[in-house]
Amino acid sequence: MPGFDQILSKRSIFKDVTVLSPHFVPKDLPFRERHISEIMTVLSPALKCQKPRNLIIYGKTGTGKTCCIKKIMEEFEGYRKDKGSSMQYVNCRIYNSRYRILQRILRDYVPELDKSGFGLPFLYEKLIELASTGVQMVIVLDEVDMVKDLDELVYTLTRSNDEIKKGGVSIVGISNKLSFKDALDPRSRSSLYETEMIFEPYTAEQLQKILLQRVDAGFEKNVVEPAAVNLAAAITSQESGDARFALKLLNKAGDVAEQEGRMKLTDHDVESARKMVELDLTMETVNTLPEMHQIVLYAIASITLTGSKYSRLEGVESGFLFSGEVYEEYENTCKKLRKRPRSTRWYKEYLNELDMLGLITTTPSGKGIRGQTTLIKMGPSPASIMEIVRPNLFGVKE
Ligand SMILES: Nc1ncnc2c1ncn2[C@@H]1O[C@H](COP(=O)(O)OP(=O)(O)O)[C@@H](O)[C@H]1O
Ligand SMILES: [Mg+2]
Repeated sequence: MPGFDQILSKRSIFKDVTVLSPHFVPKDLPFRERHISEIMTVLSPALKCQKPRNLIIYGKTGTGKTCCIKKIMEEFEGYRKDKGSSMQYVNCRIYNSRYRILQRILRDYVPELDKSGFGLPFLYEKLIELASTGVQMVIVLDEVDMVKDLDELVYTLTRSNDEIKKGGVSIVGISNKLSFKDALDPRSRSSLYETEMIFEPYTAEQLQKILLQRVDAGFEKNVVEPAAVNLAAAITSQESGDARFALKLLNKAGDVAEQEGRMKLTDHDVESARKMVELDLTMETVNTLPEMHQIVLYAIASITLTGSKYSRLEGVESGFLFSGEVYEEYENTCKKLRKRPRSTRWYKEYLNELDMLGLITTTPSGKGIRGQTTLIKMGPSPASIMEIVRPNLFGVKE
């Protein structure tokens, strides 16, 4: 048996793995200086006890929204000397309703809130009380599109300003979904969208720089070949421009090299890591989907695996399924699970969302083929989708 001595003295290609973690906030955030300074400008009135305009930030996953806001919060904390202003971060993936968010915001100020059982009116009153002492509150709602009753939340927070005498409440909403604006009702949309800012996906060149900065801090000297960084940047920009993906790619590639006992990380390692990282991300996406979406996905994977009955007959390219046969399979699966299938209107909505997440692609069939219909093709390998979804739905691995 090896001792810890032996294990720890083994040379590693990593100098500091935490630097490669998605939660790490680097000191410099290249290509986001302008965004950071604009956001700081919008929020700066809070530090003079005036109410900042509300702000919405949107951009795809991995464009640096969360780490920029965390950076700005550090600056804000460093600057605000008295208690005249506060900036609070709420992760709406976890706190996903008006009630939970208010409870989260007030928890630090109202000790009784640790015990639950208080109604919304009580929370609201506490919010007014707190702000009325003269506090300018900036509330950051990260992943704001996850909030179930967002219209109500925005209404509550905005309305509170009418009742607060000295202080105020401002909202910074951050969203990964571009389409989420349309889902809001017009009143909350216009309050939330007083200021808008977009984080564009990173280009290959930008990703390369971001990666190089992390390579220096995360890996031992001369371990990572430039070709590996270039490939990781190129693959990522092709797929999404998601910096998190690029970082994961390098991290996994490092694991691969290390497992093979090499002190060099090459572009081949990046290539081998690609499949694993894609599978990891697919898993994350699929596991957070609501059940009905997963059933639809299951239906698509199982028909893809057994082969479409119609595709060949109709001369459609293999891998493409007809919307109707998928719906039938979806109904069958619902029956097996003793769930009530939703109507086709909902089913189309599920398809849309799966498409937006990149799990499937849908295309209209054009005229001639069984009338007008939608063709569906699965993105990731159907076998791996099966492996992820089946235990979620049926509870056991077959
Ligand atoms: N401009 C940048 N410079 C350095 N690292 C970045 C930059 N943008 C993003 N990252 C890194 O990419 C990862 C994802 O960023 P994050 O802020 O979580 O994205 P988002 O919130 O937009 O999904 C984090 O590990 C972060 O440190
Ligand atoms: Mg984020």
